Amino acid sequence: MSSDNKIWIFDTTLRDGEQALRASLSHKQKIQLAHAIARLNVDVMEVGFPVSSPGDFASVQAIAQSVKGPVICGLSRAVFADIDACGEALKDAERRRIHTFIATSPLHLQYKLRKTLEQATEQAVACIQHARRYTDDVEFSCEDAGRTPIDDLCRIVEAAIKAGARTINIPDTVGYTIPNEFGLIISQLMHKVPNIDQARISVHCHNDLGLAVANSISAIQAGARQIECTVNGIGERAGNCSLEEVAMIIKTRGDFLPYYTDIKTTEIYRSSHLVSQICHMPIQPNKAIVGENAFAHSSGIHQDGVLKAQNTYEIMSPEQVGIRTNELNLTSRSGRAVIAHRLTEMGYSKEDYDLDQIYQAFLTLADQKGRVFDYDLEALVFFQNLQDDD
Ligand code: KIV
Ligand code: ZN
Repeated sequence: MSSDNKIWIFDTTLRDGEQALRASLSHKQKIQLAHAIARLNVDVMEVGFPVSSPGDFASVQAIAQSVKGPVICGLSRAVFADIDACGEALKDAERRRIHTFIATSPLHLQYKLRKTLEQATEQAVACIQHARRYTDDVEFSCEDAGRTPIDDLCRIVEAAIKAGARTINIPDTVGYTIPNEFGLIISQLMHKVPNIDQARISVHCHNDLGLAVANSISAIQAGARQIECTVNGIGERAGNCSLEEVAMIIKTRGDFLPYYTDIKTTEIYRSSHLVSQICHMPIQPNKAIVGENAFAHSSGIHQDGVLKAQNTYEIMSPEQVGIRTNELNLTSRSGRAVIAHRLTEMGYSKEDYDLDQIYQAFLTLADQKGRVFDYDLEALVFFQNLQDDD
């Protein structure tokens, strides 16, 4: 596939994700997570907001010095002091990016910044030019782009590209848009901004309506080539677009989405669990890709199907995301084929038990306790053999 079809993955677990935590991560924890995120082979990792505190500055600096591979990025408002802090913290990185932003929606301009769009544009242009003194790789974001009139958005994006921004990020800051609406914003930018081919379009979707991933996919179809996301979708309020979901959608639906990422998907499960543990953010059991139930089958019909051909009820394999195997939950809905299969996995041969009898005992137990575990099956076989001896 041509490089035009590559989707850049910009991870912001350590910046937008970290903003959502009850307690700040320690310096050591940030470095540990940064290495895990680098192992995922993301293209860019945004690792902090250096001007915000001396601790954040030090972490960004340490990550810039020790993490190799991805571009290391820091966030800054469109303020010279922020950009200087970013430039300084990132100076030892193998490859660095400064990400600067200003709000563009009428609501934010009027109430938060008390500026006109023209004033915000001038400020953005000056800051992008200032950031270019530190690096050629400057990203500019139009905060609250999802609620910015399209002509205003086109005007500021054109000016930002002219000033030297090489990535233009379109955030749906408050997770307000719906997929075809957000896709339309991207396709209008692609058609209306005359110098758009000099920049990569990026999107940064929040999940307030549960649409962050869907909106990001819609944006790709409209021309975006970078997705900003976080491991497990952690981030402000309801979170950000989830990295693992986007990566696996693109990998699994290549038939319909002719794009690719360079994510090493077998690292997904490990990094997801590390983020969950270190950030004290539990993963809901039914979370796509990484939840405890994502590759667990409970219905007897499904279990039977999966034993015959895995793809009857699995659209991707657990191994692809770094999970050793799928799971067949033994409950009163499980059929006898599954019980026999599990007993074989546990090392029993057919001569060791009577399947009809074991299955009846299993159903009685399952009705009483719900899920039946391997040690329960072991006990059932043991008691059956004890009775046979009497
Ligand atoms: O949600 C947002 O708009 C942001 C920007 C700083 C990119 O996080
Ligand atoms: Zn955000």
